[in-house]
Amino acid sequence: MRRVLVTGRGGQLATGLAEALPAQGFEPFLFGQPEFEFEQPATIAAAFAAAQPDAVVNCAAWTAVDAAEDNEAGAFVANAVGPALVARHCAALGIPLVQVSTDYVFDGRKGAPYVETDAPNPLGAYGRTKLAGEWAALAENPQTIVLRTAWVFSAVGNNFLRTMLRVGAERPVLRVVADQHGSPTAAPDLADAIAAVLARLRGTGWQAGYRGVFHAVAGGTTTWHAFAEAIFAAAAPLGGPRPEVQAIGTQDYPTRAVRPADGRLDTTRLAQTFGVALPRWEQGLDRVARAALAS
Ligand SMILES: NC(=O)c1ccc[n+]([C@@H]2O[C@H](COP(=O)([O-])OP(=O)(O)OC[C@H]3O[C@@H](n4cnc5c(N)ncnc54)[C@H](OP(=O)(O)O)[C@@H]3O)[C@@H](O)[C@H]2O)c1
Repeated sequence: MRRVLVTGRGGQLATGLAEALPAQGFEPFLFGQPEFEFEQPATIAAAFAAAQPDAVVNCAAWTAVDAAEDNEAGAFVANAVGPALVARHCAALGIPLVQVSTDYVFDGRKGAPYVETDAPNPLGAYGRTKLAGEWAALAENPQTIVLRTAWVFSAVGNNFLRTMLRVGAERPVLRVVADQHGSPTAAPDLADAIAAVLARLRGTGWQAGYRGVFHAVAGGTTTWHAFAEAIFAAAAPLGGPRPEVQAIGTQDYPTRAVRPADGRLDTTRLAQTFGVALPRWEQGLDRVARAALAS
């Protein structure tokens, strides 16, 4: 196994995979819009024909959580129909697919970290369409691994860290939600974990126990407010902004989509099956902060 097709080229995770895969001896073939579009199935076929992949990581997705509420059909094409088509190509080739998913498939009411067997109950359109994508990817390809992650941040793309650095440079005081819990996951760390999972597949060959859902987030949990404080603490010595960060409740920051208040994910299954564990979120922040300030 050597050639890995990666979708969503311009995105956070695909950018991380462009570095992480070669470090494990894989050759990445990245495809992005407009030459790879879920709305155009012929572009998917063309990507497979060009890459001749031994494995696929499907990172492309509709990730605009609030906008999905106003165009669930559009989100469904990217998050469910697209994965189905990709999985079908993988099945035809008999190759593994890593389908990336989200903690937003849960309602956040468990009160403890979710395990993979917990019943999903998405609160919004994004979570619903991503859950449909999990089912489609699993149904269409017997060699599918669904990796659920959360709160992804990196030095590129749209994410909380970059928003904080931008807004923090403009305003002396920020108000950030302090009652939502999760694990901020650095895209380069998640990319390393995915490359390590593929390396395990390469070493062992496909095993029945690999199929299914796995949780893959950084170690430790926090709130958006505490994450913001940590971002500015990391950024200030590097010349970044240091605004005051006030804690507010979710009810004080209404958004179009309802988000799970507690989307903590238990990652034991990933560690036990693949021997893979992501670093703590604070380490991920250290890894990303300098590059984010430079970008
Ligand atoms: N970001 C998070 O906090 C988060 C949390 C949990 C799970 N996830 C999941 O992790 C994965 C990677 O997320 P990410 O943060 O790397 O996402 P991202 O930065 O938003 O990148 C998504 C990529 O998908 C592409 N894309 C969107 N719609 C498409 C379509 N219809 N056809 C083809 N490509 C399309 C985008 O292309 P353009 O750049 O051209 O628009 C973009 O390159 C996704 O499956 C996401 O659902 C993300």
